[in-house]
Order: sequence, then structure tokens, then C-alpha cells
Amino acid sequence: MPWPEKLTPAEGVLAIDNNFTIALEGYTEPRLERAALRTITRLQRQTGMLAIAPRLGKDPGAATLVIWTKGASAPVQKYNEDESYTLTVTPQKARLEAANPLGALRGFETFLELVTSGAQGFAAPCVTIEDHPRFPWRGLSLDVSRHWIPPGLVRRTIDGMAAVKMNVLHWHLSDDQGFRVESKVFPKLQEAGSEGNYYTQAQVKEIIEYARDRGIRIVPEFDIPGHTSAILAAFPELGSGPGPYTIQRGWGVFDPTLDPSKEEVYSFLDRFIGEMAGLFPDAYFHIGGDEVNGKEWKASARIQAFMKEHNLKDLAAFHQYFNQRVQKIVDKYGKIMEGWDEILAPDLPRNIVIHSWRGPKSLAQAAQLGYSGILSAGWYLDLMQPTSQHYLVDPISGDAAKLKPEEQARILGGEAAMWEEYATAENLDLKLWPRMAAIAERLWSPASVKDVDDLYRRLAVIGNHLVTLGLTHQTAPVRMAERLAPDAPVAPLLTLISAVEPVKGYARNRGGRYTSLTPLNRTVDFTPPESDASRELLNAVERSDWPAARAILTRWKGNDAVLQPILASHSLLQELQPISTNLEKTAALGLEAIDMIEAKRAPAAGWADAANSFLTEAIRPQAELLLMPVRGVQALVKRAAQ
Ligand code: ACM
Repeated sequence: MPWPEKLTPAEGVLAIDNNFTIALEGYTEPRLERAALRTITRLQRQTGMLAIAPRLGKDPGAATLVIWTKGASAPVQKYNEDESYTLTVTPQKARLEAANPLGALRGFETFLELVTSGAQGFAAPCVTIEDHPRFPWRGLSLDVSRHWIPPGLVRRTIDGMAAVKMNVLHWHLSDDQGFRVESKVFPKLQEAGSEGNYYTQAQVKEIIEYARDRGIRIVPEFDIPGHTSAILAAFPELGSGPGPYTIQRGWGVFDPTLDPSKEEVYSFLDRFIGEMAGLFPDAYFHIGGDEVNGKEWKASARIQAFMKEHNLKDLAAFHQYFNQRVQKIVDKYGKIMEGWDEILAPDLPRNIVIHSWRGPKSLAQAAQLGYSGILSAGWYLDLMQPTSQHYLVDPISGDAAKLKPEEQARILGGEAAMWEEYATAENLDLKLWPRMAAIAERLWSPASVKDVDDLYRRLAVIGNHLVTLGLTHQTAPVRMAERLAPDAPVAPLLTLISAVEPVKGYARNRGGRYTSLTPLNRTVDFTPPESDASRELLNAVERSDWPAARAILTRWKGNDAVLQPILASHSLLQELQPISTNLEKTAALGLEAIDMIEAKRAPAAGWADAANSFLTEAIRPQAELLLMPVRGVQALVKRAAQ
């Protein structure tokens, strides 16, 4: 994953053993040499063959993997650089060819995915691959404001992104809950806005270098004029209201907003954007612009007078006035402005990029008006939706599919988005991985690659592959579960977790119980977004594969008796008592239904009604978890009743 543009399988395998070497031919540079050495280190991890020496061979004739590159990439990676490569694997050797180091980086990742343990030991299957991306912009938008994500985890996320051939990290660096980068011009920003959790400029530079080494651009976002409580905590005089302002602890949309009627706001932004434009080399600069609720603007007599005087008829026009002024500043520092879809209006220069989050419509609208656009609507990984749902979202669909070719060409790609209200350094990986690979594939592979069963089959494989990079999506749930009952076996709790999913969408926001200080250490916080076993159960029922359905249900049967004493004696687990009981009853009902279906025996009078009323209750959220096998068992009950 992502599936290549063109793949031709051939007979045989290339064995990977202790004699493995890489040789570089044609154009080379230190970045390419580092990538080659990293490939060898990764092979060591994938195979456990410690004797694969981290060295580059000099002799292409003797090397296992030969890299040939034609010329250099751009000094600062551009959004539309050539990323194509070809990879040929024969029983004797593998050859990777690319126009530039960027293409070679993509090819290295493909080669590493090919190496696997099979009937002939560790080997890569013989194959010819010709590959290039469908979209030039394939990213992740990462919020580091709601919860702090330390530099090491940003680097690990970059490793995962590179493995699935993504090429943009959109770094959401400031929001109501925190301002996360060192400003040397305005140190008060991090002093008042970060509680000590910010990236120093040296760390930012290291991460940019690290990302460049992996073919990933970094686009910073400083969200203005809304989402600015942390900035206003440092500089209340820039706000539209009377203040005082503090960083927010809760979640949602807040009132504090920069005041577009004040000249000092633009002189602040000029110096601040000037500083950040120097720190971040990418050509694009994201100014946010989302969710401006306008409450402070409406409440201010001074702002109302300013709007009248400047003939700005409503709050949207006032926001546009701000965007126009900000765009001139961004442009002055040589950057292309990007913003969330609220900034879309016909009066901005056509080189800006519209980032669609509220729905795909704005992408088509932007393209028609002549703007470039990228999609994130449908790719919010914080919402705990099934991967299949994200996978089938396509930037060129709906209104966008009806656009003229030159308008469609303005749709540059998209970004998965990870908002961190419920994500922390501890559980980020299990919310991101391996699901990001599905979105990466949508953005890289031909549009025709969209078989959901095949997606899930391959997602399981790439999930294991990504573990070799040090990503913790498989280990974090175990570790976090063990922590809640360290004196008990963890297996029964993991069995329960295999049947549940976190509540979806913004359900956890309701009631406003959470703040940035709420511990995220409960079962919902380490339950992966998708219950594979529950999906497989439903699929088995749909195929009338009763033995497969029985095998899945049998895994859950009897778990409750072992788990209840563990739950009872650990306070953070007590909330799981009802859902564990319900899993037991659900599994039992499913097994009863299969017995009847297989024996062609009609259920007793009232059995189906009683089963259905229980299942309707059992699907309700408990402990912010959903009992997913209910869907499959509802289908079984229906079949039994027929
Ligand atoms: C957003 O989710 N407010 C961009």
C-alpha cells in the first residue's frame, strides 16, 4: 500500500540474506546515501538479520539492489515534483530507477514492502513496477495544540507517512489550547501560550530536515483570526473583545478573535509571519481561517463602526477584508497562502489554496473560481469512523467529477486530519495507523483501486509492516490495558476490546465533561477505531459462512466469567461491567441463531422479539464504547427467524 500504478508479477523471488548490499548509480547526493543506509537498517529490523551490514556497495554488478537516479530534486521540495520510479526485481537483483532522489525514496519504500517472510525465507517476489502518484499533495494535518505531541513522535509520524508515500505534513501549530512554536521576535507567544510545550526553532529545523530526508514537505498553520486564545493570552491588545484572555482548557469553538480593524494586528502579523516564513522553507503557508463565530465582532461598537465606515456589509465581508490583508503579508514573504474553506471568496488572488473541511462542495467551487484546493472533508481520523468510509472518499467525486479537466487539475490532493482533543502522545499511533495507509492509497493509486475487502486484507499486512518502523498502534493498546490491571492477565480485557469501538463523531464532546487536563487513560482511549472481528462477523453472516461466524463468536463466549472479577477490582475498569455482560449475551444469541439456521429449526415463539429488544439496548454506548458484534448478531437473528 499504496497499490502501484502498474504492477507486473513475474516468476521467482529475490532472496534477502546477509550479503545484501545497495549500490548507487548515476546522480547521487548525501540524502540518497542516507536513504540507502536507512533501507539496510530497516531490512535488519524486518528480517532480524543483524549481519546485514549498514554499508553501501561500490560495485553495481555485485549489489542486490541498484539505484539509478538521473538528476537532483528541487532544493526545497515542491508540491508537484516528479515522484515516479520503476522497480524491477529478478531472482538475481533488484533495480530501482527514478528521475530524482524523491522518486527513489518512494521506490525504496515499495522495495521494503515487498520483502517478507515466505516459503523461501525472507525474499522479495519478482515483479516489475512502474509507479507514480495520482495527486501531487498527499498529507496529514496534525494538531499539536489540543494535546502536545513531542518532537520524537512527530518524527515517528513522518516515518509512517513516508512508508505510505505521503508527502505533506501540515503542522497545526497554534489554536485556542496552545501556541506550539518558539518565536524569537515575540517570545511572549510561547511564554504565555504554551505552558512550556512548544518546539524550539532548532527542533523545528531538525524536523524539517528529517522530513526532507524522507521526501515530505512541512506546511505550517497558524490559525487566525479565530482559534487564537493562546495568541491573545500573550497579546490581549490584539483581540476584538475586552479580554482578559487565557488559553482554553475545553473543546469547541471559542469567542476570542483577532481584531481585523486594528492596524497593530497587521503590524504584529507582518513581523510574526515574516519570522515564520523564514523558519519554514515550504512555499505554502496555512492561515487557518476556520470557525470564526463573530461574537466578539458583533459585540464591539468600534468594530461595527469600522465595518460601516469601510462598507463591509456583514461579518463574512469583515473576515474577507482580514484575509485580503493577510494574503498581502504572506505574499510579501514569498509564500502562497492556504486556508480552510471559510476563506473562499472571489476577491482573493487565484494562487491561494482552499482546504476543504466542511464538505467536498467547496473544493469544486474553489476549482471553478480558479483556486487550487485540497480535501480533508471525509478524512477526519479523530472521528473514529470505519477505514472503508475514509477509503471511498475521492477528491474527484460529486460536484468535482463534473468539472472541466482544467478545473479538476486544480484539485491538488488532500490530507487526512488528526485533531487531538482525545489523542495524546500515548494513543496517537493507534488512532492514525494503519488507517492512514487507506487515505494514502486513495491519493496515490489509480481511482479504480477501491475494493474494500482487498483494502482490509492489505491493511492488516501494512499494519504489521509499520510496526517495524517503531509505530505503536499494536502495542499501545496492550500497554495501556495492562496499566489498568497490572496484577491480572490482560487477555480477557483485550478480548472485550476486540468487540468494541469508541463512540463516533463528536459524541465524546457532548456534555462538555472533557478538558485538556482530563486523563485519557480509560478503555475508550486505547480501543482502536475499528473492531476487525465484528466486521468479519458481519461479512461471514452475509456470505452465509456459518463456521466462520461461529468461530468468531466462540472467541467471545465465556470471556465475561473470567473478566468480571478483574473489572470489579479495578476502579477504572468498572465501567466495562455491563458491556462485558452484553458481549456474553450477544455471543450466546449469535451462536443459538447459528444452531437454528444450521439445523433448519424455527425459533421458539417470542425468541426473535426478545433477542431484538436486547440487541437494540446492547448497541447503545456504554463507557463511550459501542458493542460492535450486535450488527452481525442482529443479521443472524433475522436469518434464524426466516
Ligand atoms: C476544522 O476542523 N475546524 C478545520
